[in-house]
Amino acid sequence: MSNKEQTLSIIKPDAVERNLAEKIKIIFSENSLKIKETKKLHISKDEAAQFYKVHQAKPFYDQLCSYLSSGPIEVIILEGENAVLKNRELMGATDPKNAADGTIRKLYGVSIDKNSVHGSDSVENARKEIDFFFKN
Ligand code: CDP
Ligand code: MG
Repeated sequence: MSNKEQTLSIIKPDAVERNLAEKIKIIFSENSLKIKETKKLHISKDEAAQFYKVHQAKPFYDQLCSYLSSGPIEVIILEGENAVLKNRELMGATDPKNAADGTIRKLYGVSIDKNSVHGSDSVENARKEIDFFFKN
């Protein structure tokens, strides 16, 4: 049975800065995740704080928001079969040290905060996150 989903990917400042966006997008395309829309932007710390609101109680929240707003990012709507889970698999574990071989974070992540990509963790959050960046 088909289960076409959409999910949000963000190529974070560390990866944009190192010109890794095209390489990362090729990984998505080669793994049957279609790039539906993409947009480059540089968000404010307030916008980052809104986006990461689920993490507001975490000790790393302030740093996380500073980081995501520290430079240009690329936000991407991915679409495909089980896109949410597939993207999470392609990304690998949050800490690049623990990420499986071949995953984006293993290949390109520098540290737990500079881990190159964001990916929605559920279909519901994907909808919210896509709306956050793409609903005018
Ligand atoms: O991004 P992911 O869903 O894998 O991880 P998360 O638990 O939802 O955390 C969101 C982001 O916060 C991570 O991608 C890291 O960049 C950052 N983080 C951090 O800086 N320090 C931690 N101890 C945990 C997460
Ligand atoms: Mg998360």
